[in-house]
Amino acid sequence: MTIQENISLKEYNTFGVECYAKRFVSIDSFYGLQQLVNKEKDLFLISGGSNMLLTKNIDTLVALINIKGISIDKEDEGFVYLTVNSGENWHEFVLWCISQNYGGLENLSLIPGNVGTCPIQNIGAYGVEVKDTITKVEALHVESTKLETFSNAECDFGYRNSIFKNEAKGKYILTSVSFQLTKNQHQLNTSYGAIETALQEKNISSPTIKDVSDAVISIRQSKLPDPKEIGNSGSFFKNPVITSSQFLELQSIYPTIPNYTISNTETKIPAGWLVEQCGFKGKRYGDAGVHEKQALVLVNYGNASGKEIFLLAKKIQQAVFEKFNIQLEIEVNII
Ligand code: EPU
Repeated sequence: MTIQENISLKEYNTFGVECYAKRFVSIDSFYGLQQLVNKEKDLFLISGGSNMLLTKNIDTLVALINIKGISIDKEDEGFVYLTVNSGENWHEFVLWCISQNYGGLENLSLIPGNVGTCPIQNIGAYGVEVKDTITKVEALHVESTKLETFSNAECDFGYRNSIFKNEAKGKYILTSVSFQLTKNQHQLNTSYGAIETALQEKNISSPTIKDVSDAVISIRQSKLPDPKEIGNSGSFFKNPVITSSQFLELQSIYPTIPNYTISNTETKIPAGWLVEQCGFKGKRYGDAGVHEKQALVLVNYGNASGKEIFLLAKKIQQAVFEKFNIQLEIEVNII
């Protein structure tokens, strides 16, 4: 285990923000992780770096969780049960599943980040959330250095939420995630409008999981910036949930307001629409900006600092609040 000093974290966060770690260590085995945690409890963890905005240098030891490996735990006629170590890249894992004809994750193609962080915010896209396939999560309890297992129910998943963002926050290091995937009789979810259209355009009437994955990849590529080209962290804000009465009031002023009914009393509004209505879509302030095709995504055109991006987010929150009386919640971890 080599501890390096004064390491730039630019390549370890998908926003591509320049910040420095005073001390940095890459961990590639569970044993190494346990050894580290035995010695040092105050750690700053980095995995795929896809859901964080660094606004300052990090003084505590930065540990890059890079533990790799996929194992098949068991198989039966219909399902395969897999355990994947947290340092595996998410999209590469999804592509591997598709190549093996394991179904369930195809709608989650091309999401940046690593497997170990997918349960934390319960990643979701195009009608599917990762909680639908997770059977359990294993995590190292920092205080006791023991490995603990969280069943799906114990993860307490919600929309972009889990126990790891709440009670368990900061107390555990996720080491592996186990999935139950289909081997045949895949439950395709093509109800999302853009997927249906993409499949129709290709004249595909009975799609395979690969067809769905390809459709998702092309939709994402057409709307969302590739972090390798333009720094970003996906959706910067959560889609807010408002009361149905507030929604009806807004609808009377903005008849075309997009919305998803959550219950009789609650409605979800796409944050991207709210941000666009406030005039921010495609706007650029120095190297910080709002993506031109999806206003929910803040971008770093090169040398924006985390502080500049955060200030832009604050400005957007204020404008949305003033115009719509809705408080946008930031989805990305601000460091
Ligand atoms: N919209 C606008 N302007 C915009 C963006 C969106 O008016 O700039 C409108 C669209 O016209 C549409 C609605 O908002 O009516 C929804 O847009 P979209 O389908 O792009 O989805 P979203 O609600 O903006 C969510 C997730 C994305 C996920 C997509 C597809 C959240 C916070 N975001 O976005 O997740 O890919 O649905 O399922 O729930 C991520 O979390 O990083 C992410 C990209």
